[in-house]
Amino acid sequence: MIRKDPLVDLLIHDLTGPLSIVFASVNNLINKEEKYGPYNDYQKETLKRILRNAGKAKGLLQEMIEVYRSEEGLFRKDQFLIEETLLDALRDAIEIIKPEIGEELAGAKNKNQFKSILQKNGISLEMSGRYCATPFSHDQKKIRQIIRNLISNALKYRKNIMKLSVTGDLDLIISVEDDGQGIAKEKQDYIFKRFFNIKDKESGPEGLGFGLSCVKNLIEMMKGEISLKSGEDAGSCFTVRIPPL
Ligand SMILES: Nc1ncnc2c1ncn2[C@@H]1O[C@H](COP(=O)(O)OP(=O)(O)OP(=O)(O)O)[C@@H](O)[C@H]1O
Ligand SMILES: [Mg+2]
Repeated sequence: MIRKDPLVDLLIHDLTGPLSIVFASVNNLINKEEKYGPYNDYQKETLKRILRNAGKAKGLLQEMIEVYRSEEGLFRKDQFLIEETLLDALRDAIEIIKPEIGEELAGAKNKNQFKSILQKNGISLEMSGRYCATPFSHDQKKIRQIIRNLISNALKYRKNIMKLSVTGDLDLIISVEDDGQGIAKEKQDYIFKRFFNIKDKESGPEGLGFGLSCVKNLIEMMKGEISLKSGEDAGSCFTVRIPPL
């Protein structure tokens, strides 16, 4: 359980506004180069970096808000197609973790092109079971947040490949698998704790260690389950099971 602290509440609330303004302003500068530019390479890169980091901070605040809301049992009941939600989550995660693939994806004209760009970059999606065609009933934002977190990690830690799969006939079952360095057995309990980040390798990707604790929290509030199959140098496969609302 996350301890409710009025100062944290206030921080989350008061940071959202200014961050949104930073994000929207930089986005505007980037998208209206013909009006405000032309920019040189350094300026372009800097604007993109500001946008990416403001996006990250905004995402983090959003996650904290969602966790707070779910602890109060505040779930919305939406009906939505899982594939769409998964592709949205994928787009969000890629834009932040792998912006170069994000740029390629932005040029996709339809879903098939989108998927073939993913495939070229080692990302595959397999759908089976009831929710291929039938909408799932739950809080769409929170489901997207869970998927986005698992995908972000897989993208950060994979070597070349990430496999997503969706199945299930009543409960929704989603797996996110990567071919990265994996997580040693003795560390597997800790990764779901807040602010835990395995820092064996100095060169490894940096993170706050917040994502998985949010995911675990949400899944518990949803009365679902999360499991991990991994080992040192064996890649990682996170699987979540979520009953419909
Ligand atoms: N797919 C994975 N492969 C290898 N290690 C992982 C994987 N997913 C998570 N981990 C390990 O678990 C730790 C906790 O993950 P978590 O998502 O909570 O934090 P983070 O990704 O470091 O930061 P944040 O998600 O807050 O930006 C990570 O720092 C990493 O050491
Ligand atoms: Mg993470």
